[in-house]
Formats: sequence, structure tokens, C-alpha cells
Amino acid sequence: MMVPFVNETLVDFRQESNRDKMQEALHSVEAEFGREYPLVIGGERIWTERKIASNNPSRKNEVVGYVAQAGRAEVERALASAALAWGSWQKTDPAARAAVLFKAAALLRRRKFEFSAWMVYEEGKNWVEADADTAEAIDFMEYYGREMVRLSVSQPTTPLAGEDNRLTYIPLGVGAVIAPWNFPLAILLGMTTAAIVAGNTVLLKPASTAPVIAYKAVELLAEAGLPAGVVNYLPGDGGEIGDFLVSHPQIRFVSFTGSRAVGLRINELAAKPNAGQIWLKRVVAEMGGKDAVLVDEDADLDAAAEGIVASAFGFQGQKCSAGSRAIIHEKVYDALSEKIVARTRALEQGPADANFASGPVIDAKALEKVLNYIEIGKKEGKLLLGGEAGAPDGYYVRPTIFGDVPPQARIAQEEIFGPVLALIKARDFAQGLEIFNGTEYGLTGSFYSGNREHLEIARREMHVGNLYFNRKCTGALVGVHPFGGFNMSGTDSKAGGPDYLLLFTQAKSVSEKF
Ligand code: SER
Repeated sequence: MMVPFVNETLVDFRQESNRDKMQEALHSVEAEFGREYPLVIGGERIWTERKIASNNPSRKNEVVGYVAQAGRAEVERALASAALAWGSWQKTDPAARAAVLFKAAALLRRRKFEFSAWMVYEEGKNWVEADADTAEAIDFMEYYGREMVRLSVSQPTTPLAGEDNRLTYIPLGVGAVIAPWNFPLAILLGMTTAAIVAGNTVLLKPASTAPVIAYKAVELLAEAGLPAGVVNYLPGDGGEIGDFLVSHPQIRFVSFTGSRAVGLRINELAAKPNAGQIWLKRVVAEMGGKDAVLVDEDADLDAAAEGIVASAFGFQGQKCSAGSRAIIHEKVYDALSEKIVARTRALEQGPADANFASGPVIDAKALEKVLNYIEIGKKEGKLLLGGEAGAPDGYYVRPTIFGDVPPQARIAQEEIFGPVLALIKARDFAQGLEIFNGTEYGLTGSFYSGNREHLEIARREMHVGNLYFNRKCTGALVGVHPFGGFNMSGTDSKAGGPDYLLLFTQAKSVSEKF
């Protein structure tokens, strides 16, 4: 009997024993720096001439590891392996497929400090952020395993006398999983295991800034008993193999999490059939956000300040759910701004392994982009805090706050994906709502208010996929807050929810006349 799904408990780093375990894991991971990792195609380890170096953003000259780089020939080879593996994997008992996920979750639970330590070094996550990522990865596997068991029996249909009718969900085929670097374990494993537990096989392209943790995830699945060829690991250049993979006629679906620009390109490429293609490709795309926290005149200002700072600066604002706008009722604007600035000023910055509240952004390109937006912000609003790069040994940006930002300013409309918060003043609740909805995105948002009437209006009118009242807008929990957004935020796939696995299946109705 399967126990019901419960979320993985987060590690309490206030306990000395847990801090010791984390330090130990950091040391053992550090001892592995500079190692090389192969591609994995059809279960074989394949070495290539070209390599991708993965750096530690906290100390940019430190190489965490090198991974082999796939080109188009390796993609073709992986497609053949995935097609071969699909032949038997699609017929494998769904409960046995789910068992691989449960086993992988159990193995990950045992090694959670080690996996978190890799993310501390490779992505610059502090301990709490890295642990939350690992816990979410465990949750996705526990959740999707159970979902597959639930969906593996024929679904209810209206009875008709003299007929036996069954509706079942069957897999799609071979798909591409194109994973992000910002939740390099949770989202990568969530996307991958949802697809495979439903009976598909995949070509997994990790982000070039997070390939080592991705390799570790692929190894974990193999250790849990996943047959060769079900997941093929193919780090590579987006321009070289990304388009090729998405356009390939043998690819049946594409599951993508990343930027709006890349998501739109994938959607466009996937829509165009190529020679030999016999299906419409399914695209699942989770893209960006320009998420906001809206604050009413009667809100608890300390709670709002806490939620705004956590939403804006957690993992340096590098979450699609990050609250990069705070829209504040003019009556409490000054008082709340002061509290937000004071709390943010207290965030100390330094290397992720030393567990600072504020760490680096992911790479040089991100640093340049964020600093560029900061210069734009200096012309659009009033700089209240930060506004410059931090220590030069890593990719640091000081947590930055702009006040009096007009709602249509670029820093209030465009996704920055860094530690930059725009404070926007609203005349009243109605105008606040309008500003909240006034971007092309629709992923997450929060509303701080004690006014029941306003809360009910907000429930209807705030047009985002994940809306929170009187709490921060990041940190969706698997099963609790199914996650995905509207408009340019993507296809609203609701990862970690009861609709998600269906995206990787097609329904078949079989009717037998008696
Ligand atoms: N699911 C994450 C969050 O809610 C973002 O991807 O913060």
C-alpha cells in the first residue's frame, strides 16, 4: 500500500549536526572539482573532443567540472537510442516505472546534502535555497510516481448498455527536455521524471551553466534502475543542438523551462512540421515573469516587507517566481519603503558555500545584463539601495531597490532575473490591480491585505497562475501549489499538480460491443 504524498521536510540548519553535515558535503564535493563527465546515450558513457566548463559563480575562476559537449551527430545517436528504449519502456508496467522514481527519491533523500552542495558550488545557491531545490526534486518524483499509478487505470466514462468502454492514457513517444539552470535539480528532475514515468523516453539537454548537477541527476536515475536509453544526457550549445533537436521530425514533444525569448522560438520551431513528421508536436513551455507583490493600505507592513524582500532577493532574484515589483498603496508607501530598504540592507553578500543571504548571479552574461538594467533604472526611478556590482571575484550585484518607478518603466516591465526591485506607488487598490496586471506576463503574485472584500476581488482579478495572499510569491510546494503561469509566462502546465502528467500522454478510447 502506497502512503499518501507528503512534502519533504526541509533541513533545519540551526541544528549544529546539520551544519556539520553540510560542511562535510561541501568538502567532499570540492575535492571533486575539475573532474570530467561524459554524455550518456543509450546507457553508454560517451566522451567528446569539445568540453563545456562549469564555473563556480561565487569564485569565477574555480571550475566545478567539465562536461562533454554534444553536437548534431550525438543528437541523432541519442534519438535512435531513445526510440529503441521507447519500444519496451512504453509497455513497462506503470507501477514499475513509478517504482524507479520512488527509488530515485529514496536515494536522493539519503544523499541530499551532497546534491545540495553541488548546487551551492555550481549555481551559487545558499544552503537553504539548495536544500529547498533538493527537497522539491524528491517531491516531484514522489508526486509524479503516485500520479502515474492513479492515471494507469482506465478512467470513468458514461456507461452504455451493451458496450465495454475504456479511456486510458498512453505515452507520446520520444521527447526533448530542455531544462533551466535556476532549479537545476528540482525542475530538471521534475520535467524529466514526469515525461518518463508516463512512458516516454527523452533527450535531456541541461543548461550550460548547470551541467554537472544534471549529470548527477542522470546517474541517480540509472542507479535507481532506469533502463538504458530512457534518459539520454546531452549538454550542448543551444544554437547548435537546441533548434536542431526541437525541429527534428522524430521528436514528439518538447518540455522547456527558461526564458521568454527561447520559449517563443521553441514554440515557433515546433509548430512547423518537417519532412517525415507524422504528428503535431506538443510544447510545454514555462517561461518568465514580472511578478509583483501588491500591498493594500491596511496590510501588516512588517509581514509585507518580509515577503517582498524574500520574493525579490531570494537566490538573487533568479527565480521565474521572483517578485521584482512591489506595488504599494500610497498611504503606506513611505513607511513600507523604509522597512523594505532596511531589511535589504541587512542582507550580507558573499560566497554561497559560506552561506551568505545574498550570493552571486549565475555568470558573466547575467552580471552584465543586470548591471545594464540598473543603469536603465537610474534614469527611470530613484535609487534607494545598491546599484552596483559587488566583490569582483564572483558575479556579485548588490541587492538593488529603485523607488518611485513608473508602472510602464522598462525595469517595471521587463524580466531582469537578478536582485533588482522596483517600488511602484498606487493611488488606491483599483489602480494597484491595474498596475499588477499591466505586464505581458502572468506567473506569480502576492497581495497583502486585511480587507476581505479586496481579497475576494483580488482572487478574481489578479491574473496570474500562482496567486498568494499575505505571503511571499516564491516557494511553490509540489502538490500544494501546482505551478505555472498565464500569458507570456508560458503554457500554464501546473507542474506538481494533478493536470501535469496528462501533458505527456494522449488519451485513447477503446469501445468493445458485446
Ligand atoms: N517553483 C518555484 C517557486 O515557486 C519557481 O520556479 O519559487
